[in-house]
Amino acid sequence: MENYFDVHSATWDANRDRVERANAIAGLIRQHVPLGAQMRLLEFGCGTGLLGFNFLSEVGHISFADTSAGMLEEVHKKIAASGASNAGTLDLSQNPLTGPYNVICSLMTLHHIEDHRAQLEALSHALAADGYLCLCDLDSEDGSFHSREVVPHNGFARSEIESIFRDIQLDVTLSTTGYIVRKEVAGVPREFPVFLIIGKKRHKPFPALG
Ligand SMILES: C[S@@+](CC[C@H](N)C(=O)[O-])C[C@H]1O[C@@H](n2cnc3c(N)ncnc32)[C@H](O)[C@@H]1O
Repeated sequence: MENYFDVHSATWDANRDRVERANAIAGLIRQHVPLGAQMRLLEFGCGTGLLGFNFLSEVGHISFADTSAGMLEEVHKKIAASGASNAGTLDLSQNPLTGPYNVICSLMTLHHIEDHRAQLEALSHALAADGYLCLCDLDSEDGSFHSREVVPHNGFARSEIESIFRDIQLDVTLSTTGYIVRKEVAGVPREFPVFLIIGKKRHKPFPALG
């Protein structure tokens, strides 16, 4: 079966709302996460890298990770056009997620993944101690955000994501509305809030004495 994201990769950035959303989220991440030239950043489910490319000159290295060959091809073109030597791609359909990364960010990807808890656990595992997971996705909705596509999750309750974060060694440092998608559904204007939840990786607890 053809991959929806492969088919739409070449025209993905023509949707100005997606670009605006990614830039708005990048601005918020910048306000809440200390970025630096020594840091390794991963954009998980990067698509064409709309979020991650914002940070190209602010971190030491960026890995753009996705399962869609078409999306990764677009990222390759952008890296070549920018002349950047501090960015690369990771094809997660062929390779495992490793790390460690100082920052992992992800926008509108988790709701496409059936076992979201296991995925979040893998992301936390790939973080360095004191690293940050910056997760953006849809708040729970009634299924009308994706008009034709069927996805594993119609968004998430923030309380559930926060609870998972705590279970997987992440202290929640921010939980907020990062953006509001406005679009018409069956001719009716609708709003779909997108959350930004940031978690900071805990150091491993000291073993109990005695
Ligand atoms: C809705 S798009 C979002 C793309 C980009 N983050 C953006 O905001 O423009 C979802 C992305 O997640 C990717 N994806 C789907 N399942 C994935 C998985 N299991 N691991 C990594 N990426 C995945 C898709 O290929 C697609 O590029």
